[in-house]
Amino acid sequence: MPTPQSAIFRQGLRAHEHLEFDLKPGVSVDAVRAAFAQLKDGGIVQSAVAGFSERLWRLLAPATEIPPGLAPLASIHGTAGTMPAQPHDAWLWLADRGPDLNLDAGRQALAALAPVLTLAEDTQGFVYRDGRDLTGFIDGTENPSLEEAPGVALIADGPGAGGSFALVQRWRHNLTRFQALSQEEQERTIGRTKPDSVQLLDLPPTSHVARMVVETAAGELKIWRRSVPWGKASVNGLQFIAFSADPQRFVLMLQRMYGAAPDGLADRMLEFSQPETGALYFVPSTEALLRWVKG
Ligand code: HEM
Repeated sequence: MPTPQSAIFRQGLRAHEHLEFDLKPGVSVDAVRAAFAQLKDGGIVQSAVAGFSERLWRLLAPATEIPPGLAPLASIHGTAGTMPAQPHDAWLWLADRGPDLNLDAGRQALAALAPVLTLAEDTQGFVYRDGRDLTGFIDGTENPSLEEAPGVALIADGPGAGGSFALVQRWRHNLTRFQALSQEEQERTIGRTKPDSVQLLDLPPTSHVARMVVETAAGELKIWRRSVPWGKASVNGLQFIAFSADPQRFVLMLQRMYGAAPDGLADRMLEFSQPETGALYFVPSTEALLRWVKG
């Protein structure tokens, strides 16, 4: 299998910056390649993950490199309302030891890509306490292990092999509202205990965990989550990032969140947090990135 972009699985990253871009009208493939070629290897392959929308990837790569299922994220309508979809064309996830290095890499990327891409979103993320979401709950308990993660996240063969699909959604929390609940009610909302993330024995069907456990004939659906908190005292939330070999897993989970699955139940977390962005990207293998994007 071709080599995945390594930062998908890299551990110990404490500072994150997520840049999302829109393609400028009328730019040529050659201009896009020339812009990405300006990025030093260290800036795009070593300490970053690069993802592309369906239309940008189709512009850059031949049909044999387009993985089945690559399409813009669609909004979802359910009993809990409408999930926004806000497609963009390129995503750079800069992750390093500190925000200073991300800032340097980010400024370099903005300058290099400016001729062909317009910046749409720039979100800084960080590790909160010992890997908790800002609600205080540990995020990542049921993530696959590092050994299992490549099997969950990577396209094994065929078009796009060694690549992955990424869901990028910035959620904005209402922490004041969440913290007004008793700890017991908070735990019933998430479906796990707050101090140590033990799954509740009597799991409410509208808890986040109950909605996100999706059983299929092939077993439980798995995704590889790399979310981090973002923001400051006045405005904050979770930059949700997840990778999957199959984008349909995201859709099924989001439908179960929004009450768009056959049972019509919605995730109680939506009472305290909503996504304000949402896009799906294809994250090609390192070889495909070097060949079709920087080639
Ligand atoms: C505000 C946004 C979100 C927050 C604060 C959040 C937080 C959490 C927390 C605290 C857990 C329990 C611990 C763990 O296993 O990691 C969890 C589990 C999980 N979340 Fe989220 N999450 C959010 C959005 C999402 C979204 C959008 C998806 C999928 C599209 C998702 C998928 C999952 C999955 C698959 C699990 C593991 C379920 C299990 O197997 O027990 N989450 N999340």
